[in-house]
Amino acid sequence: MLWKTVLLLALVDQVLVLENGLLQKPPMGWLSWERFRCNIDCDQDPKNCISERLFIEMADRLAQDGWRDLGYVYLNIDDCWIGGRDAKGYLVPNRKRFPNGIAFLADYAHSLGLKLGIYEDIGNFTCMGYPGTTLDRVVQDAQTFAEWKVDMLKLDGCFSTPEERAKGYPMMAAALNATGRPIAFSCSWPAYEGGLPPKVNYSLLSEICNLWRNYGDIQDSWRSVLSILDWFVDHQDVLQPVAGPGHWNDPDMLLIGNFGLSFEQAQAQMALWTVLAAPLFMSTDLRTISAQNMDILQNSLMIKINQDPLGIQGYRILKLKSHIEVYLRPLVNDAYALVFFSRRTDMPYRFHSSLAQLNFTSSRLYEAQDVYTGGVISGLQAETVFTVIINPSGVVMWYLYPVRM
Ligand code: GLA
Repeated sequence: MLWKTVLLLALVDQVLVLENGLLQKPPMGWLSWERFRCNIDCDQDPKNCISERLFIEMADRLAQDGWRDLGYVYLNIDDCWIGGRDAKGYLVPNRKRFPNGIAFLADYAHSLGLKLGIYEDIGNFTCMGYPGTTLDRVVQDAQTFAEWKVDMLKLDGCFSTPEERAKGYPMMAAALNATGRPIAFSCSWPAYEGGLPPKVNYSLLSEICNLWRNYGDIQDSWRSVLSILDWFVDHQDVLQPVAGPGHWNDPDMLLIGNFGLSFEQAQAQMALWTVLAAPLFMSTDLRTISAQNMDILQNSLMIKINQDPLGIQGYRILKLKSHIEVYLRPLVNDAYALVFFSRRTDMPYRFHSSLAQLNFTSSRLYEAQDVYTGGVISGLQAETVFTVIINPSGVVMWYLYPVRM
């Protein structure tokens, strides 16, 4: 009798948990929202409206310009793709903008070695007012996405109550599981509950979601990057431990390539998001992106750090009166990523420090590679004093590793 109960409990547990084994590393790819929003005016703006054409053109760029081979494989549709529901209640895309349907786009993405993501909302409407999933449609919509061969679902929370979210997100996780298709699950749930316990149950989230938006939407400005960073750092004691392989905090998309960030700020967002083990979702026009911005996004050492197999989220270890901050992320093989970040607004700052001042106690000999310049700094022991020159609203980023004797 007892073992039967145990078996039953184990089975029940399995049903509740999202066991897709996906996203052992933070997802990388492209998401339409920040750059292309809900532009549905294909008559006036055919190149930039939310349509099949936009996703095909971005898929081609991902495949042909080196992105896919570096790991940027997700091609994710956000809001404003829905046309309505058919007579049987099945979701259909807007026929004019997606004339060949979503399954066609998924096939196209797969033929290029990419994955397709889609967007829905657990409430009555999506944030832009398109038909939501609602509790009674969860199973049906999960099946539709699986039939279309979708690989990721972002489930938003606009126009829903806390009760609907508390039921709907676990229900969708179970429904996705039940389709038998591995579909990564991105949950906006915590962002709608203020992002913190006790309202947010991060142990439950890490069982049912592969990633989750904790906080508000990123906008195309440095101020927005800072407000998100501040929130994540203010709450790092809560947020840092809940991230790991298969379940990530999501501070929202990368702005790099758009209009609001300077070169230094673009480098800073990339470095800080990488140290936070954040998903790397670009949202920019890959058809026109500059070589300089491509260099930031395609930095292979940066990507290796973001994708580190331990999946430990980094944290701020130092905040100084000089408006210099230091962030640290432990990596595999006793290595670390260090980000020296300046919030100053005057001129390049000469920051003097030592590993001992950054709480390194080991007597090992380290070497550092500057992630952006490639330069190597050798002979670093705990007490060795070093100087990094950090530009205003910029970073210096090091990949620090012990030298094997
Ligand atoms: C919310 C989300 C955004 C985006 C929009 C779409 O605001 O947080 O990321 O998906 O909805 O309407």
